[in-house]
Amino acid sequence: MDILKRIKNAFRKEEKPAAKIIRLESVDSTNNFLMAYTPTADEAMTVAVADYQTEGRGQGTNTWESEEGKNLLFSILLHPSEIAVRNQFLLSEYGALALKEALTDYVDEDITLKWPNDIYWRDKKLSGTLIETKLGAGRIKDCVFGIGLNVNQTDFRSDAPNPVSLCQILGREVDRDELLEKIVCSFEKNYELIRSANYAAISGMYHEAMYRNKGFHLFEDADGTFEGAIVEVEDDGHLVLRDRQGMIRTYEFKEIKYGKI
Ligand code: BTN
Repeated sequence: MDILKRIKNAFRKEEKPAAKIIRLESVDSTNNFLMAYTPTADEAMTVAVADYQTEGRGQGTNTWESEEGKNLLFSILLHPSEIAVRNQFLLSEYGALALKEALTDYVDEDITLKWPNDIYWRDKKLSGTLIETKLGAGRIKDCVFGIGLNVNQTDFRSDAPNPVSLCQILGREVDRDELLEKIVCSFEKNYELIRSANYAAISGMYHEAMYRNKGFHLFEDADGTFEGAIVEVEDDGHLVLRDRQGMIRTYEFKEIKYGKI
């Protein structure tokens, strides 16, 4: 990190999040916990963080494994009723951008957003997010962002592809409580983008921060491997690629994989 940034960070007044933070030693899954949780009327944002999850869940049928007490395993519950169900990918974009912003206090460069909502450092996965929602009358009543962020783990035994932790990137351990507070503050601050309905700005920033967003890269769909360039992510979250023949191909999550470089 450059010297100016270090000085700026050292003098910055530490912000404290307004959200309620519930700390758990062990839980099945922080997402399950918050999906079953009833907040009080004045709780705009609730966070549940655990040292260990017995049934941590990843995208689809994947599990999420993490060494006890080493990483950040947490979920953030909010109530974005201003978002219509058809625009729900905005939430993925907002969450990924908020997370990336908090991480820039630690890592200057090479952090990107891998569609739909992984955080990558170079070609390695630093964090994954599982988003779950409760809907009502075409709007999003409740949204739980479940985030697994590799912080101080340095030995990865599960078969998760390409994991990396902040400790491995920085060569030193990171205070997990401080990092969590920065992330929650970033979710709070960036929520202004949702409140102001600045959807084009959110999508533009997301596209700009995307992993492999420039030029042609290898992708793999049900028909095999091909070279494609990212054109856009549609409001409903579909990834749109252009192949070398100029053909436009549109994918849902799980229909397409990024190829190995
Ligand atoms: C992914 O597959 O990349 C998403 C992983 C999400 C894991 C986090 S850990 C905290 C929260 N609780 C869960 O059970 N899953 C999410």
